[in-house]
Amino acid sequence: MKALFSSIYSWADERLGLEDLVQFAKHKTVPVHSQAFWYYWGGLSLFFFVIQCVTGVLLLLYYRPGPDAYDSVRQITYDTNFGWLVRSVHSWAANLMIAAIFVHMFSVYFMKAYRKPREFGWWSGMALLGMAMVFGFSGYLLPMDDLAYFATKVGMEIFAAVPGIGPKLADLVRGGPDVSEYTVHRFFALHVVVLPAVFVPMLGFHLWLVQRHGNAEPPSEEAKPEAQRQSESFFPNFMMKDFAMWLVAFNVLSVLAFMFPWNLGPQADALKPAPLGIHPEWYFMSQFQILKVFGDWFPGKLGEILGIVAFTAGLMLWLLIPLYDLAQEAGRRARRATYFGLFTLVALIGTTIWAYLVL
Ligand code: HEM
Repeated sequence: MKALFSSIYSWADERLGLEDLVQFAKHKTVPVHSQAFWYYWGGLSLFFFVIQCVTGVLLLLYYRPGPDAYDSVRQITYDTNFGWLVRSVHSWAANLMIAAIFVHMFSVYFMKAYRKPREFGWWSGMALLGMAMVFGFSGYLLPMDDLAYFATKVGMEIFAAVPGIGPKLADLVRGGPDVSEYTVHRFFALHVVVLPAVFVPMLGFHLWLVQRHGNAEPPSEEAKPEAQRQSESFFPNFMMKDFAMWLVAFNVLSVLAFMFPWNLGPQADALKPAPLGIHPEWYFMSQFQILKVFGDWFPGKLGEILGIVAFTAGLMLWLLIPLYDLAQEAGRRARRATYFGLFTLVALIGTTIWAYLVL
């Protein structure tokens, strides 16, 4: 048996160069230190993304975009074997994936892993986060129940408030002046064709960069002499720990999806008044609140425009941080970058809680 396996291996190796991969896996290491727990969060984001792909394809077997959208989701939820479970897992994993990406982003930030040579890891990661949020926004409308319909309507109004191109862009995305079955078609195309086609290569690039540069060590570790720094092999040691974390994530996801099955509200009806307290998903609540506050402070459209400007400016600073905090040693810029990170974290959590309190 062993001889058979080894001759199959040599046959494949001659044609595919497998030995290079084996050597690479043997030499790949991961730093060991007190903050190494945060290295699991990129892998966890990846795990949830794989769940999204599998459950998304299963949902595609029955989902019908267009005027039939609500009926098809009702059929998935109530008439199809395990349809409710697949839908529930897909919706819960979408939220857990975005939560894991946020944890990953902030841990990378505070470990200063955006510094040279990892700038492109930071930027490709930001692109992935942006796309993950658009995945969530476009997916939210697809069932066309009343919450989905009115939340998308509100979301698109914010979009339309962008000075200049906003109204035209909103019409283009909606397929008309209002959210309709055409919007469902467009969001569907975005959700299952355009986004995956861009997200997957971007993810490949992101993971390739991680392989190229290895895991960054936090500044406290980098300050230690070489002899005091430890590492472990990725294969199989760290990979097994990664899998253990995936198992924990799978359990959390299963409990949530079983115990709190994803709801389907009444069918959207444009003629009915919007239900009370319409709001977007939690990961848009911070922006939602900032725009609301600016809208209250300033008259007319000015508030919305200033809100959008303030948010875009913050985002730009966040994106450009690798070009500001350059030095490896602790200095004024390094400290400022850390304070900016703390401020952003507190502001994001604070405005999100505030948004829920005043709903
Ligand atoms: C679907 C989204 C994402 C996936 C699947 C993903 C996956 C990963 C994985 C598996 C790693 C290696 C392990 C680790 O350090 O955690 C990693 C590293 C990294 N990620 Fe992400 N990531 C995503 C989003 C992001 C975001 C939003 C950012 C920041 C804006 C980011 C920035 C980085 C950086 C700079 C590294 C290198 C960290 C280091 O060297 O220690 N990633 N990512």
